[in-house]
Parts: sequence; C-alpha cells; structure tokens
Amino acid sequence: MKAWLLDSLDGLGRLQLSDVPDPVPAEGEVVLAVHFAALNPADRYLAEGQYPARPPLPHVLGRDGIGTVVALGPGVTDVKVGDRKTILRGESGVSRWGAFAERLAVNVESLVDAPADWTEQQAAAAPLVYVTAYQALTQWGDLPPSVVLVTGASGGVGVASLHLGTALGHTMLALSRGDSKRDALLGLGAAAVFNPDSPTWRKQVKEFLKGRRVDLAIDNIGGPLFSQVIDTLGEWGKASVVGRLAGPVPQFNTAALFFRRIRIGGVAGGSYTAAESRTAWQSIIGLLARTGAKPVIDSVFPFDRLLPAFDRLAQGPIGKVLLDVTAK
Ligand SMILES: NC(=O)c1ccc[n+]([C@@H]2O[C@H](COP(=O)([O-])OP(=O)(O)OC[C@H]3O[C@@H](n4cnc5c(N)ncnc54)[C@H](OP(=O)(O)O)[C@@H]3O)[C@@H](O)[C@H]2O)c1
Repeated sequence: MKAWLLDSLDGLGRLQLSDVPDPVPAEGEVVLAVHFAALNPADRYLAEGQYPARPPLPHVLGRDGIGTVVALGPGVTDVKVGDRKTILRGESGVSRWGAFAERLAVNVESLVDAPADWTEQQAAAAPLVYVTAYQALTQWGDLPPSVVLVTGASGGVGVASLHLGTALGHTMLALSRGDSKRDALLGLGAAAVFNPDSPTWRKQVKEFLKGRRVDLAIDNIGGPLFSQVIDTLGEWGKASVVGRLAGPVPQFNTAALFFRRIRIGGVAGGSYTAAESRTAWQSIIGLLARTGAKPVIDSVFPFDRLLPAFDRLAQGPIGKVLLDVTAK
C-alpha cells in the first residue's frame, strides 16, 4: 500500500509518499481501507517534535477519518468486513501509524458510526474536533445558558464549539481575524463576530453584551491574545485552554485571576478513555441532531497533495481540511 511516511521529527517537509507493506490486524483490531482522513494542527506539531508523543520512525500521521473494514484480527466479533467506520480516537497517528495511508490497523474500541444523514466527508471531519470542543464546553459541569467566547472560531475546534455551544443553549461569541469569515460564522451559530486584530474588540464585546461579561472562553490561540481573552471574563469566569496556535503567552499576570475568581482548565481530548470518547460521541450526535448542524468541510485534497493540504490548514480554513485517500 501507499502511505505518507515521516522519517524524522524535522517538520512536514520530511513526509514522503512511499510503498510499505499492508498492515496486519492484531487481536481486537481491524484493517480499514481509508476513504477520507482529516488534517489537524497536532499532526504538524508531532512532525516538528513539539508534541509529547515520540513514535518510532518512520511514522504515519493522521488521527481521524473514515474507511471500510477489509480485514478482522483475532477476537473481533462486532464488526464485519465491508462495514464503514469512523475513527474516533486512540493512538492512530500518535503512537502508531495513522490515516494518511491507504490502509491502517486500528483497535475496534476506536471505531464508531456516524449519523446516516452525514456524508462520508462530514463523518471523517468530526471526531477529534467535536470531542475536543465537547470537553471544552462540558468540563466545568452543567453550565446554565452562558456567554461563551471562542477564539480561532473558524477552525475545526472553533466551528465544533459554535455548533455544540449553540445546541447547549449558550450565546456564542466568535473571534476571527479579518472580516471575510464573519457571515459564515454568523451562519454557524455565532451571535456576534469580533476581530481580535482590532484594538477595540474587547470594548465591542462589552457593548454587545450590554453590561454582561463572558462566562466561558474556549481558547485555541494562546499568545498575546490570551490575556485579553481573560480580561473579558466576568466573576467566576472560566477558560478552557485548547490550543496555542499563536505560541506561548507572554508576560501573563496572575493577578488577572484573583479578583474575579477566574479558573483556567486545560483540555485534552486524548485524555478521555475509549469508553468516555464513545459516550461523548453519542452526546455530540444528539446535540447536533437538535439543531440539524453538520460538520463543515473547508476543502478536500487528493491523496498525493498532502503538503498543499497542510498549507491550506495553516492559512485558517472554515471548518476542516480533508485528504481524499481514494483520489490519486
Ligand atoms: N487540547 C486538545 O485536545 C486539542 C484538540 C484539537 C486541537 N487542539 C489545538 O487547538 C488549536 C486549534 O485547532 P483547530 O483544529 O481548530 O485548528 P485550525 O482548524 O487550524 O483552526 C484554527 C483557527 O485559528 C485561527 N488561527 C490560525 N493560526 C492563527 C494564529 N497564528 N494566530 C491567530 N489565529 C490563528 C484561524 O482562524 P481565523 O483566520 O478566522 O482567525 C484558524 O481557522 C490548535 O493549536 C490545535 O493543536 C487541541
């Protein structure tokens, strides 16, 4: 089979489309013929050696996607050859070979079904980002209808947060650089969209909320924006820290937390057990069914165009960037 092999942790430039032996399923595993695989910023972090995982090399990236079962390992009874399955979470693309390949071996615990009225692309796009957004929204317990601010709102986790937050009854505020994605974000459930590059964005948020403050921030960006995001939070405000696309936070003053009793909590979708991920997935599907929202696809690249697909991801997509493994 063909797979995108990473031979060192020196960046995505080390990826090469290569011929490798077909995977053999171990006990409790199946082999999937991959149809679509989703790109995530964490693939780049891993390729650059910036991620905790240090898989044996060469490695195949790609954490979520969809495919057809083509072989069963010993002990697998609840999945059949020919079934179409979505890769929910697990070690794929992290400590073992992932979905940027024609085939991958995966534990059946990591496989789920997507709703019948989703396309294959929607099913491939959803798992990692919706599970992450779900944890970011729910890790504080059952929140009453709240004001939730999402940074990097047009990205994979951002769109998932808007969809799930809206379904949970929250008022969702979106941050997106530039104005080009404003209408799209309003269409995805944002009550208002603000440009973090505007020096007055916090004042605009205050005016929009008419004296109310933000209850929960979901931060995908970090960097200098983080302190400004904390500044928008009200009494007992919370921040779910998901990502740091703009790098480390410079000169954060912890005094910003004291007086309003602000709490900061990290998010790690990968910290869910397989059973917890499956439970989260069922809740996600139920929430999306309430509003009829479906995962948003920004663009789909043929299998041999993985590097341009990563370029698109770095530009700031709306929704998810996918690799069509069957299109050569
Ligand atoms: N903790 C976890 O479990 C977990 C899980 C998934 C993802 N993550 C992390 O969460 C972050 C977001 O992931 P994602 O999949 O949503 O990413 P994404 O699809 O690439 O989208 C991120 C969005 O953020 C904005 N953005 C991108 N680069 C930026 C920069 N340098 N400065 C400011 N804004 C920038 C862009 O929106 P605009 O152009 O509209 O501003 C972009 O659409 C990443 O750091 C990822 O590694 C963490």
